[in-house]
Amino acid sequence: MNTDVLEAIRVSALDAFEGVKTLSDFRAREVEFLGRKSALNQFLKSLSSLPPEERREWGSRANEIKREVTAAYEAAKARLEGMAFDAEAEWIDVTDPGEALPVGHLHILTRVERDICDIFRSLGFDVADGPEVETEFYNFDALNVPANHPARDMQDTFWLRQKAVSSQQLAVSKKSSRLLLRTHTSPVQVRYMETHTPPFRIIVPGRIFRSEATDASHEHTFYQFESLFVDREVSVGHFKYVAELFFSRFFGKHINIRLRPSYFPFVEPGFEFDIACTVCDGRGCSSCHGTGWLEIGGAGMVNQKVFEAAGYPRDRWKGFAWGFGTNRLAMMKYKIPDVRLFQSGDLRFLNQF
Ligand code: DAH
Repeated sequence: MNTDVLEAIRVSALDAFEGVKTLSDFRAREVEFLGRKSALNQFLKSLSSLPPEERREWGSRANEIKREVTAAYEAAKARLEGMAFDAEAEWIDVTDPGEALPVGHLHILTRVERDICDIFRSLGFDVADGPEVETEFYNFDALNVPANHPARDMQDTFWLRQKAVSSQQLAVSKKSSRLLLRTHTSPVQVRYMETHTPPFRIIVPGRIFRSEATDASHEHTFYQFESLFVDREVSVGHFKYVAELFFSRFFGKHINIRLRPSYFPFVEPGFEFDIACTVCDGRGCSSCHGTGWLEIGGAGMVNQKVFEAAGYPRDRWKGFAWGFGTNRLAMMKYKIPDVRLFQSGDLRFLNQF
Protein backbone atom coordinates (compact mmCIF):
# COMPACT_ATOMS: atom_id res chain seq x y z
CA MET A 1 0.00 0.00 0.00
CA ASN A 2 1.04 3.45 -0.81
CA THR A 3 0.57 6.57 1.31
CA ASP A 4 0.58 8.76 -1.77
CA VAL A 5 -2.55 7.06 -3.12
CA LEU A 6 -4.50 7.81 0.06
CA GLU A 7 -3.18 11.37 0.15
CA ALA A 8 -4.20 11.91 -3.50
CA ILE A 9 -7.72 10.65 -2.72
CA ARG A 10 -7.91 13.00 0.25
CA VAL A 11 -6.78 16.10 -1.65
CA SER A 12 -9.01 15.58 -4.66
CA ALA A 13 -12.09 14.77 -2.51
CA LEU A 14 -11.63 17.83 -0.27
CA ASP A 15 -11.08 20.04 -3.33
CA ALA A 16 -14.13 18.63 -5.01
CA PHE A 17 -16.49 19.34 -2.09
CA GLU A 18 -15.02 22.71 -1.36
CA GLY A 19 -15.39 23.93 -4.94
CA VAL A 20 -18.84 22.51 -5.72
CA LYS A 21 -21.40 25.14 -6.81
CA THR A 22 -24.55 23.38 -7.89
CA LEU A 23 -26.72 20.66 -6.45
CA SER A 24 -26.31 18.41 -9.46
CA ASP A 25 -22.50 18.65 -9.29
CA PHE A 26 -22.74 17.96 -5.60
CA ARG A 27 -24.72 14.76 -6.19
CA ALA A 28 -22.16 13.61 -8.79
CA ARG A 29 -19.28 14.27 -6.46
CA GLU A 30 -21.00 12.45 -3.60
CA VAL A 31 -21.13 9.36 -5.82
CA GLU A 32 -17.58 9.85 -7.03
CA PHE A 33 -15.93 10.39 -3.67
CA LEU A 34 -18.17 8.72 -1.10
CA GLY A 35 -20.19 6.22 -3.13
CA ARG A 36 -19.83 2.45 -2.86
CA LYS A 37 -17.49 2.38 -5.83
CA SER A 38 -15.44 5.40 -4.76
CA ALA A 39 -11.69 4.92 -4.50
CA LEU A 40 -11.86 5.49 -0.76
CA ASN A 41 -14.51 2.84 -0.09
CA GLN A 42 -12.81 0.41 -2.45
CA PHE A 43 -9.66 0.97 -0.50
CA LEU A 44 -11.38 0.32 2.83
CA LYS A 45 -12.90 -2.85 1.41
CA SER A 46 -9.55 -4.11 0.24
CA LEU A 47 -8.14 -3.83 3.79
CA SER A 48 -9.71 -7.20 4.76
CA SER A 49 -7.16 -8.99 2.67
CA LEU A 50 -4.26 -7.45 4.58
CA PRO A 51 -2.54 -8.98 7.53
CA PRO A 52 -3.96 -7.68 10.88
CA GLU A 53 -0.97 -5.42 11.64
CA GLU A 54 -1.15 -3.55 8.34
CA ARG A 55 -4.93 -3.61 8.36
CA ARG A 56 -5.05 -1.64 11.60
CA GLU A 57 -2.56 0.95 10.49
CA TRP A 58 -4.02 1.57 7.03
CA GLY A 59 -7.51 1.27 8.43
CA SER A 60 -7.12 4.03 10.94
CA ARG A 61 -5.50 6.31 8.34
CA ALA A 62 -8.18 5.65 5.77
CA ASN A 63 -10.99 6.15 8.33
CA GLU A 64 -9.48 9.45 9.39
CA ILE A 65 -9.50 10.61 5.76
CA LYS A 66 -13.06 9.39 5.37
CA ARG A 67 -14.11 11.48 8.39
CA GLU A 68 -12.38 14.50 6.90
CA VAL A 69 -13.99 14.00 3.48
CA THR A 70 -17.39 13.40 5.12
CA ALA A 71 -17.03 16.65 7.04
CA ALA A 72 -16.23 18.47 3.77
CA TYR A 73 -19.24 16.75 2.23
CA GLU A 74 -21.53 17.92 5.06
CA ALA A 75 -20.20 21.46 4.86
CA ALA A 76 -20.81 21.61 1.12
CA LYS A 77 -24.30 20.21 1.60
CA ALA A 78 -25.16 22.84 4.23
CA ARG A 79 -23.80 25.59 2.01
CA LEU A 80 -25.77 24.45 -1.05
CA GLU A 81 -28.98 23.91 0.88
CA GLY A 82 -28.75 27.45 2.21
CA MET A 83 -28.74 28.68 -1.37
CA ALA A 84 -31.23 26.19 -2.67
CA PHE A 85 -34.68 27.13 -3.68
CA ASP A 86 -37.27 26.33 -1.08
CA ALA A 87 -39.57 24.41 -3.41
CA GLU A 88 -42.50 24.22 -1.08
CA ALA A 89 -42.59 27.85 -0.02
CA GLU A 90 -41.86 29.16 -3.48
CA TRP A 91 -44.03 26.81 -5.45
CA ILE A 92 -46.12 28.55 -8.07
CA ASP A 93 -49.20 27.00 -9.53
CA VAL A 94 -48.87 28.07 -13.13
CA THR A 95 -52.36 26.78 -13.88
CA ASP A 96 -53.92 29.13 -11.32
CA PRO A 97 -56.01 31.72 -13.23
CA GLY A 98 -54.63 35.25 -12.78
CA GLU A 99 -56.34 37.90 -10.74
CA ALA A 100 -58.57 39.92 -13.07
CA LEU A 101 -57.36 43.52 -13.18
CA PRO A 102 -60.00 46.16 -13.69
CA VAL A 103 -59.81 47.15 -17.36
CA GLY A 104 -61.13 50.46 -18.62
CA HIS A 105 -63.35 50.84 -21.67
CA LEU A 106 -64.66 53.52 -23.96
CA HIS A 107 -67.25 55.91 -22.60
CA ILE A 108 -70.72 55.24 -23.98
CA LEU A 109 -70.75 58.63 -25.71
CA THR A 110 -67.46 57.87 -27.45
CA ARG A 111 -68.87 54.58 -28.67
CA VAL A 112 -72.04 56.20 -29.95
CA GLU A 113 -70.00 58.94 -31.62
CA ARG A 114 -67.84 56.33 -33.35
CA ASP A 115 -70.88 54.33 -34.45
CA ILE A 116 -72.40 57.47 -35.97
CA CYS A 117 -69.14 58.32 -37.78
CA ASP A 118 -68.96 54.79 -39.17
CA ILE A 119 -72.45 55.00 -40.63
CA PHE A 120 -71.75 58.35 -42.26
CA ARG A 121 -68.40 57.20 -43.61
CA SER A 122 -70.18 54.30 -45.29
CA LEU A 123 -72.41 56.89 -46.99
CA GLY A 124 -69.36 58.76 -48.33
CA PHE A 125 -69.12 61.52 -45.70
CA ASP A 126 -65.80 62.82 -44.40
CA VAL A 127 -65.33 63.53 -40.70
CA ALA A 128 -64.20 67.09 -39.92
CA ASP A 129 -63.65 69.00 -36.70
CA GLY A 130 -63.17 72.48 -35.33
CA PRO A 131 -62.18 74.27 -32.13
CA GLU A 132 -64.22 74.23 -28.92
CA VAL A 133 -63.02 77.73 -28.09
CA GLU A 134 -64.51 79.61 -30.99
CA THR A 135 -64.72 83.21 -32.15
CA GLU A 136 -67.92 85.18 -32.17
CA PHE A 137 -67.51 85.46 -35.95
CA TYR A 138 -67.70 81.74 -36.70
CA ASN A 139 -70.19 80.88 -33.97
CA PHE A 140 -72.65 83.66 -34.89
CA ASP A 141 -71.82 86.29 -37.54
CA ALA A 142 -70.78 83.93 -40.33
CA LEU A 143 -73.91 81.89 -39.66
CA ASN A 144 -76.11 84.92 -40.30
CA VAL A 145 -76.77 85.61 -36.63
CA PRO A 146 -75.91 89.33 -36.44
CA ALA A 147 -75.22 91.12 -33.15
CA ASN A 148 -78.40 92.32 -31.43
CA HIS A 149 -80.43 89.82 -33.43
CA PRO A 150 -82.83 87.96 -31.15
CA ALA A 151 -81.53 84.67 -32.56
CA ARG A 152 -78.35 85.14 -30.53
CA ASP A 153 -80.41 84.68 -27.41
CA MET A 154 -81.60 81.27 -28.64
CA GLN A 155 -78.37 79.91 -27.25
CA ASP A 156 -76.98 81.05 -23.90
CA THR A 157 -73.30 81.58 -24.36
CA PHE A 158 -70.25 81.19 -22.18
CA TRP A 159 -68.04 84.14 -23.07
CA LEU A 160 -64.34 83.99 -22.30
CA ARG A 161 -62.66 86.76 -20.38
CA GLN A 162 -60.08 88.40 -22.63
CA LYS A 163 -57.81 91.38 -22.83
CA ALA A 164 -59.79 94.20 -24.36
CA VAL A 165 -59.87 94.00 -28.14
CA SER A 166 -59.51 97.42 -29.68
CA SER A 167 -62.09 98.47 -32.23
CA GLN A 168 -59.20 99.08 -34.62
CA GLN A 169 -58.19 95.42 -34.45
CA LEU A 170 -61.77 94.44 -35.10
CA ALA A 171 -61.97 96.75 -38.08
CA VAL A 172 -58.80 95.30 -39.60
CA SER A 173 -59.90 91.68 -39.38
CA LYS A 174 -63.60 92.36 -39.92
CA LYS A 175 -64.08 89.11 -38.07
CA SER A 176 -64.93 89.58 -34.42
CA SER A 177 -62.30 87.75 -32.44
CA ARG A 178 -64.25 87.82 -29.18
CA LEU A 179 -63.87 84.31 -27.80
CA LEU A 180 -66.57 82.00 -26.51
CA LEU A 181 -67.18 78.30 -25.95
CA ARG A 182 -68.99 77.22 -29.11
CA THR A 183 -72.70 76.83 -28.56
CA HIS A 184 -73.12 74.44 -31.50
CA THR A 185 -71.05 72.58 -34.09
CA SER A 186 -72.42 74.73 -36.93
CA PRO A 187 -69.37 77.09 -36.99
CA VAL A 188 -67.33 74.23 -38.43
CA GLN A 189 -69.49 74.53 -41.60
CA VAL A 190 -67.88 77.87 -42.39
CA ARG A 191 -64.38 76.87 -41.29
CA TYR A 192 -64.56 73.82 -43.54
CA MET A 193 -65.92 75.71 -46.53
CA GLU A 194 -63.15 78.32 -46.25
CA THR A 195 -60.60 75.64 -47.10
CA HIS A 196 -62.59 73.26 -49.33
CA THR A 197 -64.39 73.53 -52.64
CA PRO A 198 -67.63 71.62 -53.23
CA PRO A 199 -68.88 69.07 -53.91
CA PHE A 200 -68.38 67.54 -50.47
CA ARG A 201 -70.26 65.84 -47.65
CA ILE A 202 -69.03 66.09 -44.09
CA ILE A 203 -70.05 65.35 -40.57
CA VAL A 204 -68.62 67.09 -37.55
CA PRO A 205 -68.85 65.44 -34.16
CA GLY A 206 -68.08 67.77 -31.31
CA ARG A 207 -68.54 69.01 -27.77
CA ILE A 208 -70.57 72.14 -27.23
CA PHE A 209 -71.42 74.39 -24.30
CA ARG A 210 -74.47 76.31 -23.16
CA SER A 211 -74.85 78.50 -20.12
CA GLU A 212 -78.04 76.87 -18.87
CA ALA A 213 -79.44 75.44 -15.67
CA THR A 214 -79.18 71.67 -15.72
CA ASP A 215 -81.90 69.09 -15.23
CA ALA A 216 -82.65 65.56 -16.48
CA SER A 217 -82.75 66.76 -20.09
CA HIS A 218 -80.42 69.80 -20.02
CA GLU A 219 -76.65 69.91 -19.60
CA HIS A 220 -74.23 72.81 -19.90
CA THR A 221 -71.78 70.60 -21.81
CA PHE A 222 -72.91 68.09 -24.37
CA TYR A 223 -72.22 66.66 -27.81
CA GLN A 224 -73.59 67.30 -31.25
CA PHE A 225 -73.22 66.22 -34.82
CA GLU A 226 -73.27 68.73 -37.62
CA SER A 227 -73.68 67.55 -41.17
CA LEU A 228 -73.13 69.52 -44.36
CA PHE A 229 -73.74 68.34 -47.91
CA VAL A 230 -72.89 70.78 -50.72
CA ASP A 231 -73.16 70.25 -54.47
CA ARG A 232 -74.75 71.89 -57.55
CA GLU A 233 -78.19 70.39 -57.19
CA VAL A 234 -79.14 69.45 -53.68
CA SER A 235 -82.68 69.40 -52.34
CA VAL A 236 -84.61 68.79 -49.15
CA GLY A 237 -85.39 65.37 -50.63
CA HIS A 238 -81.68 64.48 -50.41
CA PHE A 239 -81.67 65.46 -46.78
CA LYS A 240 -84.71 63.35 -45.99
CA TYR A 241 -83.23 60.36 -47.76
CA VAL A 242 -79.85 60.61 -45.98
CA ALA A 243 -81.49 61.22 -42.60
CA GLU A 244 -83.82 58.23 -42.93
CA LEU A 245 -80.97 56.02 -44.00
CA PHE A 246 -78.82 57.20 -41.12
CA PHE A 247 -81.42 56.81 -38.36
CA SER A 248 -82.54 53.43 -39.68
CA ARG A 249 -78.96 52.16 -39.55
CA PHE A 250 -78.36 53.70 -36.14
CA PHE A 251 -81.42 52.14 -34.53
CA GLY A 252 -81.26 48.94 -36.57
CA LYS A 253 -84.81 49.22 -37.97
CA HIS A 254 -86.64 51.40 -40.45
CA ILE A 255 -87.22 54.89 -39.03
CA ASN A 256 -89.55 57.46 -40.61
CA ILE A 257 -88.61 61.15 -40.57
CA ARG A 258 -90.92 64.12 -40.27
CA LEU A 259 -90.00 67.74 -41.07
CA ARG A 260 -91.67 70.72 -39.44
CA PRO A 261 -91.06 74.28 -40.72
CA SER A 262 -88.87 76.22 -38.32
CA TYR A 263 -86.37 79.04 -38.21
CA PHE A 264 -82.58 78.91 -38.00
CA PRO A 265 -80.74 81.94 -39.43
CA PHE A 266 -78.17 79.81 -41.28
CA VAL A 267 -80.70 77.86 -43.36
CA GLU A 268 -83.59 78.83 -45.64
CA PRO A 269 -85.98 77.07 -45.59
CA GLY A 270 -85.34 75.68 -42.14
CA PHE A 271 -86.91 72.73 -40.35
CA GLU A 272 -87.00 70.89 -37.14
CA PHE A 273 -87.07 67.18 -37.75
CA ASP A 274 -88.53 64.32 -35.75
CA ILE A 275 -88.10 60.59 -36.01
CA ALA A 276 -90.85 58.05 -35.45
CA CYS A 277 -90.76 57.08 -31.76
CA THR A 278 -88.24 54.26 -31.37
CA VAL A 279 -90.13 52.83 -28.39
CA CYS A 280 -93.63 52.46 -29.89
CA ASP A 281 -92.72 52.75 -33.62
CA GLY A 282 -95.01 55.76 -33.98
CA ARG A 283 -98.12 54.37 -32.30
CA GLY A 284 -97.89 56.73 -29.32
CA CYS A 285 -96.53 55.94 -25.86
CA SER A 286 -95.27 57.73 -22.78
CA SER A 287 -91.79 58.25 -24.28
CA CYS A 288 -93.24 60.33 -27.11
CA HIS A 289 -96.09 61.79 -25.00
CA GLY A 290 -98.56 59.97 -27.19
CA THR A 291 -97.51 61.82 -30.37
CA GLY A 292 -95.61 58.96 -32.02
CA TRP A 293 -92.70 61.36 -32.77
CA LEU A 294 -89.43 62.32 -31.06
CA GLU A 295 -87.78 65.70 -31.68
CA ILE A 296 -84.24 65.22 -32.87
CA GLY A 297 -82.66 68.31 -34.37
CA GLY A 298 -82.60 71.15 -36.85
CA ALA A 299 -82.00 71.13 -40.58
CA GLY A 300 -82.41 73.15 -43.72
CA MET A 301 -81.02 74.36 -47.04
CA VAL A 302 -77.83 76.34 -46.45
CA ASN A 303 -78.55 80.07 -46.51
CA GLN A 304 -76.62 81.75 -49.35
CA LYS A 305 -75.34 84.28 -46.81
CA VAL A 306 -73.43 81.47 -45.12
CA PHE A 307 -71.84 80.49 -48.44
CA GLU A 308 -70.88 84.14 -48.89
CA ALA A 309 -69.34 84.34 -45.43
CA ALA A 310 -67.19 81.32 -46.36
CA GLY A 311 -66.06 83.10 -49.56
CA TYR A 312 -68.23 81.23 -52.10
CA PRO A 313 -69.99 83.23 -54.84
CA ARG A 314 -73.70 83.66 -54.29
CA ASP A 315 -76.04 81.15 -55.91
CA ARG A 316 -73.33 78.86 -57.26
CA TRP A 317 -73.85 76.06 -54.74
CA LYS A 318 -76.68 74.42 -52.90
CA GLY A 319 -76.48 72.41 -49.76
CA PHE A 320 -78.29 71.07 -46.78
CA ALA A 321 -77.10 71.24 -43.20
CA TRP A 322 -78.44 69.58 -40.12
CA GLY A 323 -77.50 69.13 -36.52
CA PHE A 324 -78.57 66.82 -33.72
CA GLY A 325 -77.54 65.91 -30.19
CA THR A 326 -75.33 62.89 -29.63
CA ASN A 327 -76.35 62.58 -25.97
CA ARG A 328 -80.00 62.53 -26.95
CA LEU A 329 -79.48 59.73 -29.48
CA ALA A 330 -77.49 57.71 -26.94
CA MET A 331 -80.29 58.24 -24.39
CA MET A 332 -82.89 56.95 -26.83
CA LYS A 333 -80.91 53.95 -27.97
CA TYR A 334 -79.77 52.85 -24.49
CA LYS A 335 -82.79 54.11 -22.51
CA ILE A 336 -80.75 56.48 -20.35
CA PRO A 337 -83.16 58.58 -18.28
CA ASP A 338 -80.97 61.55 -17.27
CA VAL A 339 -78.47 63.46 -19.43
CA ARG A 340 -76.40 64.37 -16.37
CA LEU A 341 -75.34 60.74 -15.96
CA PHE A 342 -72.91 61.01 -18.88
CA GLN A 343 -70.60 63.36 -17.03
CA SER A 344 -71.31 62.10 -13.53
CA GLY A 345 -68.24 59.87 -13.47
CA ASP A 346 -70.45 57.33 -11.69
CA LEU A 347 -68.96 53.89 -12.36
CA ARG A 348 -72.29 52.19 -11.65
CA PHE A 349 -73.60 54.00 -14.72
CA LEU A 350 -70.48 53.79 -16.90
CA ASN A 351 -69.85 50.09 -16.34
CA GLN A 352 -73.24 49.14 -17.75
CA PHE A 353 -72.04 49.86 -21.28
N1 DAH B 1 -76.95 74.54 -34.61
C1 DAH B 1 -78.31 74.26 -34.22
C2 DAH B 1 -78.39 74.11 -32.70
O1 DAH B 1 -77.45 73.78 -32.10
C3 DAH B 1 -78.80 72.98 -34.84
C4 DAH B 1 -78.97 73.12 -36.30
C5 DAH B 1 -80.16 73.59 -36.83
C6 DAH B 1 -77.95 72.76 -37.16
C7 DAH B 1 -80.34 73.70 -38.17
C8 DAH B 1 -78.10 72.87 -38.53
C9 DAH B 1 -79.32 73.34 -39.02
O2 DAH B 1 -77.14 72.53 -39.38
O3 DAH B 1 -79.49 73.45 -40.36
O4 DAH B 1 -79.43 74.32 -32.17
